[in-house]
Amino acid sequence: MDETDGTSLRADVAVVGRGLTGTVTALLLAEGGADVVVVDARPASTTTTARSTGKVSLLQGTRLARVARHGDEVLSSYVAAGSAGAGWLRGTLRDLGVPVEDRDDLTVAGTRGDLASLDAVLEACARVRLGAEWEGDPPLPTPAVGAVRLRGQAQVQPRAALSALRTLLQERGVRVHDGVRVRQVRRVPSGVVLRTTGGTVRAGRVVLATGVPPGRYGGLFLRLEAQRSYLTVWELAPDAALPDGFGQTMSITAGEPVRSLRTAGDLLVVGGEGHVVGREPDTAGRVEALDAWTRRHFPVAARRRAWSAQDYATDTDLPLIGPALPGDDRVLVATGYAKWGLAHAAAAGIALSGRLLGEPADWAPALEPWARPPRPRASTARTVGRQVACWVRAASRPSGTAPSGSGTPVSRVCPHLGGVVGWNEFEQSWDCPVHGSRFGADGVLREGPATEDLAPA
Ligand SMILES: Cc1cc2nc3c(=O)[nH]c(=O)nc-3n(C[C@H](O)[C@H](O)[C@H](O)COP(=O)(O)OP(=O)(O)OC[C@H]3O[C@@H](n4cnc5c(N)ncnc54)[C@H](O)[C@@H]3O)c2cc1C
Ligand code: FES
Repeated sequence: MDETDGTSLRADVAVVGRGLTGTVTALLLAEGGADVVVVDARPASTTTTARSTGKVSLLQGTRLARVARHGDEVLSSYVAAGSAGAGWLRGTLRDLGVPVEDRDDLTVAGTRGDLASLDAVLEACARVRLGAEWEGDPPLPTPAVGAVRLRGQAQVQPRAALSALRTLLQERGVRVHDGVRVRQVRRVPSGVVLRTTGGTVRAGRVVLATGVPPGRYGGLFLRLEAQRSYLTVWELAPDAALPDGFGQTMSITAGEPVRSLRTAGDLLVVGGEGHVVGREPDTAGRVEALDAWTRRHFPVAARRRAWSAQDYATDTDLPLIGPALPGDDRVLVATGYAKWGLAHAAAAGIALSGRLLGEPADWAPALEPWARPPRPRASTARTVGRQVACWVRAASRPSGTAPSGSGTPVSRVCPHLGGVVGWNEFEQSWDCPVHGSRFGADGVLREGPATEDLAPA
């Protein structure tokens, strides 16, 4: 990380995280003339952005119906943010020569019991004049009794998109330091000091574009739930016949089981089987369930790839974009996209850069973390229950070795707040059921709010 004296960096703004949120924020800040440094702990391929399904949509399954519970003003702000983010992303990627494919997005009712959710989505769209349409016979080979269609959305190859934006970042002269993990965020009178694995970063302002903020910063981890989902990519059988119009759509079901579909050239992408991180004992079984469903409904040949990724949902069903602590602009955050972050991560970049450059977006205040009181709910209570149960178990200092025998013996006590990690067979990782930190078989930290590795056993 050596730039000045070998252990310390200085900048107007330090952006932590180089997924879509951090990349867009840093790009726009640099375009606005700010001196920006970006640090990231891990390679681009491991970001949630790169491992997403790549749908850039304002429809977002049933999310608009949940956002609508906050009233028309908040709903309008949420949609305006998504529209700004999606517009920026599509325009920038097209300028960079990255393919952006126009698709209609469908939210699908698999059974009659899901129709009420679709009504709520249609009503939310109508309230903000988003031209969604009811469709009685959607072009799908899967069970469907109706769908909401929003025309003119898009799909991208997320890894290619992120890679092109990262190249642009470097062309704009932004200093980028990979392999640097932030371990502590400390506010000082002149701004913020970051303690990292590569030394110290001093900045006037810091943007934590890390999914969940590192450590316990701002207590925001208490308002987030880490959710993991699986994606599979399939070759279609040579003589595969799919309903006319299927290839012009991307879709997700409104009810269970959640299934997300898109095409990628000649390939089919199928996602679903989401669960709270660390609370699924049979992760390999989740992929088997996805495989069985796909083979039942699609004329598929071989499965090419399968992976999982995680994103964070909030207590309010709104993203948290703005000051980590009320009234203090030194540390800004952007998280809580609930698996719909491509449009809204770009929006977060616009909001946070605009805020720091003195050009605030008018829709941004409604999405600030403290714009409304935290709203603890049943999932919050379940997390607290897990935490307490883990503390009881942690008293016996549990340890373990990866069942595959590939790792070293590690303490199973999560260094974040004492959760007891469990083995994730599919990802070959130790996952914490409390706030979603994940560690390799060797105990090395991969993601989540923890800032240290698992201790050796
Ligand atoms: C399976 C799945 C499918 C999805 N599909 C879609 C979709 O089709 N459409 C859509 O809109 N959204 C989708 N999403 C959601 C979307 O991908 C995310 O909301 C979005 O990519 C989040 O971007 P981000 O930049 O905030 O986080 P990330 O892309 O995860 O980037 C965060 C970065 O922060 C770094 N970091 C973390 N902690 C530290 C630290 N302490 N120090 C230094 N660096 C750190 C990480 O290494 C990482 O590079 C999906 C999510 C999942 C899980
Ligand atoms: S992630 Fe918080 S206790 Fe493990």
